[in-house]
Amino acid sequence: MTEQQVANRLEKLRREVNHHLHRYHVLDSPEISDAQYDALFDELVELEQAHPELVTPDSPTQRVGGAPASQFEKVTHELAMLSLDKCTTGEELGDWLTRCRNRLNDPDELTLICEPKIDGVAVALVYEEGVLTLAATRGDGQTGENITQNVRTIPSVPLRIDAQGLPRRFEVRGEIYIPIADFHAFNEACAASGEKPLINPRNGAAGSLRQLDSKITASRPLTWFCYSLGWVDGEWAPAAHSEVLAQLKTWGFRVNPLVRQVDDLDACMAYVDEVLEQRAELGYDIDGVVIKVDDLDQQAALGAVTRKPRWAIAYKYPAEEAVTTIENVEFQVGRTGAITPVARLVPVFVGGVTVTNATLHNMDEIGRLDLRIGDTVMIRRAGDVIPQVMSVIESKRPAKAAAIELPADCPACGSPIVNVGDEAVARCSASPSYCPAQRKEGLRHFASRLAMDIDGLGDKIIEQMVETGLVEHAGDLYRITHEQIAGLDRLADKSAANLVEALEASKETTLARFIYALGIREVGEATAANLANHFGDLPPLMGASAEDLEKVDDVGPVVATKIVDFFADDGNVEVIEALITGGVHWPVVDRSDASALPLENQTWVLTGTLEQMARNDAKALLVGLGAKVAGSVSGKTSQVVAGPGAGSKLTKAEELGVPVMDEAEFLAFLADHDISAS
Ligand code: IVH
Repeated sequence: MTEQQVANRLEKLRREVNHHLHRYHVLDSPEISDAQYDALFDELVELEQAHPELVTPDSPTQRVGGAPASQFEKVTHELAMLSLDKCTTGEELGDWLTRCRNRLNDPDELTLICEPKIDGVAVALVYEEGVLTLAATRGDGQTGENITQNVRTIPSVPLRIDAQGLPRRFEVRGEIYIPIADFHAFNEACAASGEKPLINPRNGAAGSLRQLDSKITASRPLTWFCYSLGWVDGEWAPAAHSEVLAQLKTWGFRVNPLVRQVDDLDACMAYVDEVLEQRAELGYDIDGVVIKVDDLDQQAALGAVTRKPRWAIAYKYPAEEAVTTIENVEFQVGRTGAITPVARLVPVFVGGVTVTNATLHNMDEIGRLDLRIGDTVMIRRAGDVIPQVMSVIESKRPAKAAAIELPADCPACGSPIVNVGDEAVARCSASPSYCPAQRKEGLRHFASRLAMDIDGLGDKIIEQMVETGLVEHAGDLYRITHEQIAGLDRLADKSAANLVEALEASKETTLARFIYALGIREVGEATAANLANHFGDLPPLMGASAEDLEKVDDVGPVVATKIVDFFADDGNVEVIEALITGGVHWPVVDRSDASALPLENQTWVLTGTLEQMARNDAKALLVGLGAKVAGSVSGKTSQVVAGPGAGSKLTKAEELGVPVMDEAEFLAFLADHDISAS
């Protein structure tokens, strides 16, 4: 190849690699496989190595490079990076809106933009002639630090923008963060290799950007959302913030898909509530919502006071993290004998509720945290997730903080506690028929909503049924009489009658629910539904070999073995017989009747918030109709169900032309298949 041909090829490769990086990291929609991408990237690296004089600083191979810095240079922002005023109630937000209107002399129109407030690290990026030339932290708002080398390693940050009509120089601002799933995966890898884990996603993002060696930054799963324009030097005079975001998006910047234009307080509050409801499922931490005046002239007219703009406000959500103290650690016994250490905490208000317990998962986790009784800890409660202990504040450890040890014997039945194979969990060595704690948990699972759904069979009643010997296993439930139930402590006659009725009603069930209710290890409700669809009735499932079972969706060798072992146990077979004799029954799934599994071979995706039913329930119903339910949209997706707040999955479905229905249409669809959502 001539020099010119090499240069052309390099230019083409760089453009292609950048294009695929953008598809993957910004649009979440890759067009080629990882292997195909690697081949392109490798070709680029090889060609550049052979022609080092043709390497350009904006080449995607140059994201990591250069010697570690000895310290960060100071950068004075050309335009100060302000902070935000905050509010926590609709009333305060309303007051802010009124102040805006008054200052603008009651404008005919006041459009607002609502955005999630990302809990990460603020940055300002300067592009000159389309090339990223400077990345700076916020610092004190006037002066930050030059972290360009580190920011260049973040794959979703464009190093160069190939677009017509770019202003000569401009600055964009945004928030760098670590997605929650990546944070956990990163920490698991740290635990495996003995490295120090990150404390939380925000702290991890900040620490990663403060590395003097950008190779370390490159190893951290950082990404970002761009949320505003700092300044422009050149030809571009947008009229509104919404226009800025739309333009930045077309230039390849990663803009949050949940940004919404609204025009009154009610719509703002609806947004605040919707995003709060989705908070646990967003995949990244937010600490509230930012509401901004859209029109840039109106923004300018409103101006700023004491480093805070008047044209924007943060609506803050309750903190999900708090500091408290470990009073004690107790050990709970689960349905399968798994022993879970649970921390008893000094009560603390976090994530909107008072929390007194946090799960510690297993002894490895206690070791990883180096936790002792009396320690001051950071806890986190996000959404409906069980509160977790995130980290120990070692500087606050009292001198007599006691180590936590796994008891030798099961606290419920006294049998030895054992570790099986290389499982992280320790287990009670007794069988459920001996250990009352396992029995109670098994019954609780059996009665739960997605299993037999026995209303009124709560923890207290199960506890008494097991303690008094009235019920040993699920098979006994359908033998007990009204008199026996009414004899239980604190159970009013009316409640006893209701429970008898609920037991009676639960007898009419589906095969999927029944399989799930049995509590076979590793068989969750989706696997149970797959097994039911595949085998149609219980006898063929009970007689299936591991080989037969592996033909079922989602069933691998481990799950297959657990199922075979379960049905090989005489005790389990006796319980099943007692249940069937007691009257539990289900319609047999007729495999020859095409209408029995109308969604067979279809893949559905659920996104956004469903208001009439939990997402898990919707999933179980779909699987019951024969569908596969996937987590992401692709060309193979048959149907998307999108509730309010649906984001990138909905956009992608629209791009790919996948049919989309809303919740009302979904409910109508279910009704057509004789399924009611309640
Ligand atoms: S607008 C003057 N939009 O919140 C306007 N900020 O408390 C200030 N933040 O340091 C920024 N998400 O780092 C804006 N969608 C968003 C944001 C956001 C997070 C951070 C930002 C700033 C802090 C202000």
